[in-house]
Amino acid sequence: MASLCRLCSLVLVLQLLHIYSLGVYGFKHQTGKNNVTSPTNGKLFPWNKMRLPDMVVPIQYDLCVHPNLTTVHFTGLERIEIFVRENTRFIVLHSKGLEITSAVLLPKDDLGSSKPGTQLQVLEHPAHEQIALQAPEVLTAGQRFLVVIEFHGRLADGFDGFYKSTYKTRDGETRIIATTDFEPTSARMAFPCFDEPSFKANFAIMIRRERKHIALSNMPKIKTIELEGGLLEDHFDVTVKMSTYLVAYIVCDFKSVQATTSSGIKVSIYASPDKWSQTHYALEAAVKLLEFYEKYFDITQFCY
Ligand SMILES: *[C@@H]1O[C@H](CO)[C@@H](O)[C@H](O)[C@H]1NC(C)=O
Ligand SMILES: *[C@@H]1O[C@H](CO)[C@@H](O)[C@H](O)[C@H]1NC(C)=O
Repeated sequence: MASLCRLCSLVLVLQLLHIYSLGVYGFKHQTGKNNVTSPTNGKLFPWNKMRLPDMVVPIQYDLCVHPNLTTVHFTGLERIEIFVRENTRFIVLHSKGLEITSAVLLPKDDLGSSKPGTQLQVLEHPAHEQIALQAPEVLTAGQRFLVVIEFHGRLADGFDGFYKSTYKTRDGETRIIATTDFEPTSARMAFPCFDEPSFKANFAIMIRRERKHIALSNMPKIKTIELEGGLLEDHFDVTVKMSTYLVAYIVCDFKSVQATTSSGIKVSIYASPDKWSQTHYALEAAVKLLEFYEKYFDITQFCY
């Protein structure tokens, strides 16, 4: 066990060295014009560091995700409310493997007005997994804006970002589920975001799905609306202020059982339809354990 841990930390150190040397290389290259990196998509990128600048910070993300488990593609529409801390023409954030089809800037107070937004130019720096949205004019410090980004991507094959997972039914049919694992730096594979832990924000997640599927996210569902064409859109409650790596969602055809603890906490267990009959024991155990710990630690509203 101990040697395994040592091996892990060795690998970690090697990875850190790798990142560090990349950073140093980038810097040497830039001497003299220290805010601009070499062209990536034919244009100069306005930021040459691995860490994001903090001239612009996110306040809230309204994120609508539409995954298709048949085509294993997803589209997304997000509206990020940002606060400008220092005058700048650039909004630099993370994005990895996503195709951005549109980025528009709206003044924060103009909600509901018919004024068209300002188109932002999208610059890419794939080596740093960053994009820069360039405004035609300087955004002045102290203002709030909405950045509306449309994008699409493919569900990943690994276990990172927004990825495709499968299970087999009893009859041997392979079914697909779409799920996320964002820690530490994979939220940027699912939606453009300020993917560093200190850029905390609120998240309001919406997920489009077919009727035969369910969607789950960090927060309880507040409503489901029916869209033209029969798809459903689940709206989840807004999260507390948190880091991007904590965001999670899943679309699948799992079934659930639910119970409530004596202090009123709802507990749910989800499983593939074939395994559903085995969930009742898990539910019974989970409720008993939660009640035990509430009493043991004298905490009535367990944060789980
Ligand atoms: C980069 O530097 C140039 C001059 O050296 C300056 O005009 C420009 O505004 C800088 N860009 C950013 C994003 O700070
Ligand atoms: C996924 O694509 C299939 C085939 O194009 C379509 O029938 C289905 O409605 C789509 N589902 C969603 C959730 O978009």
